Amino acid sequence: MKFRRTAAAVCALTLIAVLGPGEETRPADADLELELEVGRTPLVALTFDDGPRKSTTGPLLDGLALREVPATFFLVGDRVPGNEELICRMAAEGHQIGVHTYGHVILSGLSREEFDAQVGRSRELLERVLGEGEFWLRPPYGIVDGQTALWAQSPLILWSVDPEDWRDQDVERIVSQVLAHAGDGDIILMHDIYPSSVEAALEVVDALLERGFCFVTVEQLMAERQIQPEPGRVYRTLPGAES
Ligand code: NI
Repeated sequence: MKFRRTAAAVCALTLIAVLGPGEETRPADADLELELEVGRTPLVALTFDDGPRKSTTGPLLDGLALREVPATFFLVGDRVPGNEELICRMAAEGHQIGVHTYGHVILSGLSREEFDAQVGRSRELLERVLGEGEFWLRPPYGIVDGQTALWAQSPLILWSVDPEDWRDQDVERIVSQVLAHAGDGDIILMHDIYPSSVEAALEVVDALLERGFCFVTVEQLMAERQIQPEPGRVYRTLPGAES
């Protein structure tokens, strides 16, 4: 297995640096800049939709933990019950968790009541497992209208690299498509419910670590780019100043 320990170790340091206010391990901003070599370390956020699914999300978490790489998971609400342990593990291992509606529906045109049954209910289920949190929203199919975007009361996270991993579930094609397009500040969309996606994602991680990329959650990516997350606003990519 190709795996560059040094790259992962540098990234692990970065992670500690962006844990957030109140963390005792958070170094001074000056230290953070030194570690990141600002403007020189390309950052990328790996994101997973439609899970969790024990048989695939579990092995993915194992692989990410081995590489000390964080990701962002947008969970479907009706998959939360029964997967509480898996979700606690995600949070404990430093991954960001958001919502992807309760029943994987298109948000555009929903009534307020329908919206709350999809997004609010999913957040409530997560709060029961994890305690209070923001749980940012990824709209299924990337479809959202102005009204539902406002109701979200969180940033809406879309993506800039989409290998359509669900389509043929061909590991080699998925990996080469991501590697051909991934650049600094990109948000990569994958789905942790297919064994092929798990395999492809870990190959992508190894290859991008080899290229000197550092993996961060979407929230960390925004913090690194000094972008204040705005409720109701859509984000697809978060490039650095030099990109
Ligand atoms: Ni989806």
